[in-house]
Amino acid sequence: MDLYEYQAKDLFAQHGVPTQSGEVVHTPQHAKEAAERIGGLVVVKAQVKVGGRGKAGGVKLAKTPQEAYDVAHDILGLDIKGHIVHQVLVNPAADIAEEYYVSYLLDRANRTFLAMASKEGGMEIEQLAVERPEALAKVAVDAVVGVDRAKAEEICDAAGFDDSVREQIILVLEKLWDVFVKSDATLVEVNPLVKTLTGEVVALDGKVSLDENADFRHPEYEALADFTETDPLELKAKEKNLNYVKLSGSVGIIGNGAGLVMSTLDVVAYAGEEFGGQKPANFLDIGGGASAQVMADGLEIILGDSEVKSVLVNVFGGITACDAVANGIVQALQMLADKGEPVTKPLVVRLDGNNADLGRQILHDAGNPLVELVDTMDGAARRVAELAAQGA
Ligand SMILES: Nc1ncnc2c1ncn2[C@@H]1O[C@H](COP(=O)(O)OP(=O)(O)OP(=O)(O)O)[C@@H](O)[C@H]1O
Ligand SMILES: [Mg+2]
Repeated sequence: MDLYEYQAKDLFAQHGVPTQSGEVVHTPQHAKEAAERIGGLVVVKAQVKVGGRGKAGGVKLAKTPQEAYDVAHDILGLDIKGHIVHQVLVNPAADIAEEYYVSYLLDRANRTFLAMASKEGGMEIEQLAVERPEALAKVAVDAVVGVDRAKAEEICDAAGFDDSVREQIILVLEKLWDVFVKSDATLVEVNPLVKTLTGEVVALDGKVSLDENADFRHPEYEALADFTETDPLELKAKEKNLNYVKLSGSVGIIGNGAGLVMSTLDVVAYAGEEFGGQKPANFLDIGGGASAQVMADGLEIILGDSEVKSVLVNVFGGITACDAVANGIVQALQMLADKGEPVTKPLVVRLDGNNADLGRQILHDAGNPLVELVDTMDGAARRVAELAAQGA
């Protein structure tokens, strides 16, 4: 789960990373009142979970409360890379002397954590990383050792921060590591971390991604969840504990096992090229041991997607044998019909593995005209893509 900037900065403050406190508001009038309370120059910042807000006109300086009203009026409702701004953060304006960049992230490719830091932070950091990668220091962080003083010094020196900020940055690096570990984050990024005209180092922006696998350790995160930016089908799937990711194509996919589903997506995308570029509409792994209820829930979510024109159920029977899956499909179709949501889109089913013959027999005997059995994965992918093209 990604956090909003203001939530990230709250976490920073809780762990002793110097940052600014501000007020989150939803209307220009409240922005004006917040600016009055804060006093002096303020910065009004769009709260959306996407980078590059500044460049998109989502971060603006206001010299007076009236100006705060005006810029909040401009920013609220803005569409920043597909994210509509519903709330803004009003912060005191900092006197910036220099802008730096620091982050910790999970480096999956190298199976470790990575610290990144640069003296040249700010809104051009992506460009810097491409054009002058040597200006962005990268230091691996051992998960067991973490960032102690020695590691913080190493990161600081690799980035070449000068002596005037060295001690402060070392401290920030140690405390940010606390944020990273204690909140079970996969990313903690500060851009910019600034040096002010009076020489203090302060985090002016914050980006944090939390690892949802650790949610059970953090009951407090429930309050941070904000589903206004979550796809409604993904939300519904989450409520039903389904492993579902919405994609943009027309072929609904259900499979058991993440690996099988991933390869099904590939095979369907490949087969779909022949039929006008039909693509998978989703990822859905119903896992091993899927009951009729899980199959029904999965089908309900997938068929709730109006872009779906056909569905491929691709199951490899293991511990849960194909006959159980076939019974699950038959019961699921019945359950949906009983609920007044009968399935009207074609289903292609490919069963293989344990008790595949029995499973096919069960589906055959059930005789639902919308269900087609295909024996091979390639064949099933072709057929489902063809059906999607016909339904389009
Ligand atoms: N409180 C503040 N006082 C003064 N200037 C600020 C303040 N907050 C942000 N800025 C300026 O606005 C710029 C953009 O702000 P910020 O980094 O928060 O937004 P962003 O565009 O989302 O950044 P990113 O590119 O990292 O996504 C900063 O680089 C900084 O120059
Ligand atoms: Mg930023």
